[in-house]
Amino acid sequence: MEKVGNHNSNSRKLFLSLALMLSISVASFAQGAAPVAAAATAAAPAASSGGDAVKGKELFNANCAACHKLDAKATGPALRGVASRREKAWIYKWVHNSSDLIKSGDAVAVKLFEENNKIPMTAFPQLSEGDIDNIIAYTSEPKATAPVVAALPGAKGDASQDGGISNNVILGALSLVMAILIVMLVLVNKVLRKVASANGINVAPKEPTLPIWKAFARNQFLVLVSAIFLLLTGAYLVYGFLMQVGVDQDYSPIQPIHFSHRIHAGSNGVNCNYCHSAARVSKNAGIPSLNVCMNCHKNIAEVSDTTATADYSKAYYDAEINKLYTAVGWDKTNQKYTGVTQPVKWVRIHNLQSFVYFNHSQHVTVAEVACQTCHGPVQTYEFQKQFSPLTMGWCINCHRKTDVKMEGNEYYTKIHEELSKKYGVDKLTAAQMGGLECGKCHY
Ligand code: HEC
Ligand code: HEC
Ligand code: HEC
Ligand code: HEC
Ligand code: HEC
Ligand code: HEC
Repeated sequence: MEKVGNHNSNSRKLFLSLALMLSISVASFAQGAAPVAAAATAAAPAASSGGDAVKGKELFNANCAACHKLDAKATGPALRGVASRREKAWIYKWVHNSSDLIKSGDAVAVKLFEENNKIPMTAFPQLSEGDIDNIIAYTSEPKATAPVVAALPGAKGDASQDGGISNNVILGALSLVMAILIVMLVLVNKVLRKVASANGINVAPKEPTLPIWKAFARNQFLVLVSAIFLLLTGAYLVYGFLMQVGVDQDYSPIQPIHFSHRIHAGSNGVNCNYCHSAARVSKNAGIPSLNVCMNCHKNIAEVSDTTATADYSKAYYDAEINKLYTAVGWDKTNQKYTGVTQPVKWVRIHNLQSFVYFNHSQHVTVAEVACQTCHGPVQTYEFQKQFSPLTMGWCINCHRKTDVKMEGNEYYTKIHEELSKKYGVDKLTAAQMGGLECGKCHY
């Protein structure tokens, strides 16, 4: 009985100390988190004098964000903290109708107008003073800076970084352990041998056997089979090598500006035709000129936080947009062109041989083939690449398989009647229309 009791109290001690350790670690983790949460809640009500910042944010995004940013100049000045430089009554008047205020000769308004290249601001008579208060509350919120967490003295900021031990460190540690294990094995082996010989046991010496390659050389059948095998693989590899000469499938060069189709055609849903408008009407799809980019990027100087990925930070993307500005000579602080441009030289990815004729409009408009059929899921590409092999076999295979769209095309209805009589089929493939004739593709 006593023994059992003893054992019990021992395990209880162990259990208690475990629980203690656990609670200490939890407490210290919570300590680390606490000041952060406190800081976050403290920041919110700081300066919202009267208005509702949440409603204000909605109003701002709906009405003002096209021209204003909180912390950077866009078409209009940065709006964070306007309430501290202008009186409320003045802001009401300005937002309700700024040109009236300018016409009335208000000195502040006139100066502001002139400083901003005389761009008139839209009038918002529909916004009530309460609405404007809400917007002001939103613009009065202090700038939320992410690194605050790290800067807090005593905060266990490293708790969050602990999770991110890089794979390299883990790999390094693992290989170290492996190395140690190997060394230990060798040592143990040595010691065992010593012990064995000290005890007079003979570790059996290896018996001389026929080397494996000699045994192999004596078996003529095996030699023949392996020779045939080697020849076949060799031929296969050489054939494979020759067939890929000049085929640049998956070619994906680094471009002068990192332009992500994932972000543009994917997350932001910009239609391919907006930038490659020529694809529908001509032979070439074309690459958009930088003016097309500036239709949007006059107002988009940075990406949103959610756009950044593990591989590419927001700072990286923003720097790429700045490259665009340098290229077109756009001064984003003063919102005007400087006139100094540096043309961007995009690296061409798709390159058919010059003796092949390929026409986009024929495929995109007439045949209604989707861009993705030939170019792959472009809307997911972080880097543009050559998806298809662009070999003759690739073109021909598709012409053999793909039916020609007949509906609503008189020219085709007539050809269809004649050709379907000729081939005795109901549907016509591109091949039967002449899509295999050498002259159609070769000049
Ligand atoms: C069409 C673009 C445009 C829109 C939309 C717009 N603004 Fe403006 N805003 C301007 C410009 C430009 C100026 C600078 C003065 C000028 O050139 O008219 C300005 C100036 C201001 C100023 C004065 C800033 C200062 O530093 O004194 C305030 C306040 C302001 N806007 C508030 C708003 C609010 C609030 C909204 C949304 C309800 C809004 N703006 C929507 C273009 C715009
Ligand atoms: C906002 C403009 C824009 C949109 C939208 C866009 N692209 Fe592009 N595209 C570009 C630019 C700029 C390049 C050249 C840089 C590069 O290769 O990444 C390009 C390159 C390409 C290329 C490679 C061209 C070459 O050099 O051979 C293909 C193919 C392509 N785009 C297809 C598409 C498809 C398909 C879509 C629609 C899903 C699309 N693009 C949407 C701007 C755009
Ligand atoms: C239809 C509007 C539109 C057009 C046209 C457009 N962009 Fe963008 N672009 C955006 C938007 C929106 C973002 C920000 C994405 C986000 O944060 O969600 C962006 C982000 C970017 C970025 C940062 C992300 C990345 O892709 O590396 C670069 C660089 C960029 N654009 C370059 C260009 C260039 C070069 C062109 C012209 C070939 C162009 N854009 C045309 C809307 C456009
Ligand atoms: C039937 C296959 C096919 C379809 C469909 C197709 N492309 Fe292409 N695309 C090609 C081939 C092949 C090339 C290479 C052309 C060359 O090198 O002359 C190419 C080249 C391009 C290029 C490089 C610039 C140029 O004009 O040569 C762009 C950009 C492009 N395609 C965009 C598009 C877009 C956008 C669509 C949809 C509207 C589309 N493509 C549909 C096969 C296709
Ligand atoms: C995804 C399928 C597809 C691929 C890949 C494709 N084509 Fe086509 N192509 C078609 C279809 C469908 C038509 C029939 C269009 C029509 O006239 O209605 C066609 C028509 C043509 C025509 C006109 C034929 C005629 O009878 O007038 C030429 C030329 C042509 N393709 C060249 C090419 C070349 C060159 C390539 C490879 C670089 C290629 N195509 C790749 C689907 C494809
Ligand atoms: C549907 C379009 C198409 C048709 C029809 C076509 N070709 Fe081609 N051909 C191509 C393309 C695309 C290439 C380029 C392949 C490459 O670069 O790998 C090519 C390449 C070639 C080459 C060069 C071989 C090489 O690998 O560089 C020869 C020779 C050739 N074709 C002969 C013919 C003959 C003969 C015919 C008629 C029986 C014919 N082609 C019909 C699209 C076509």
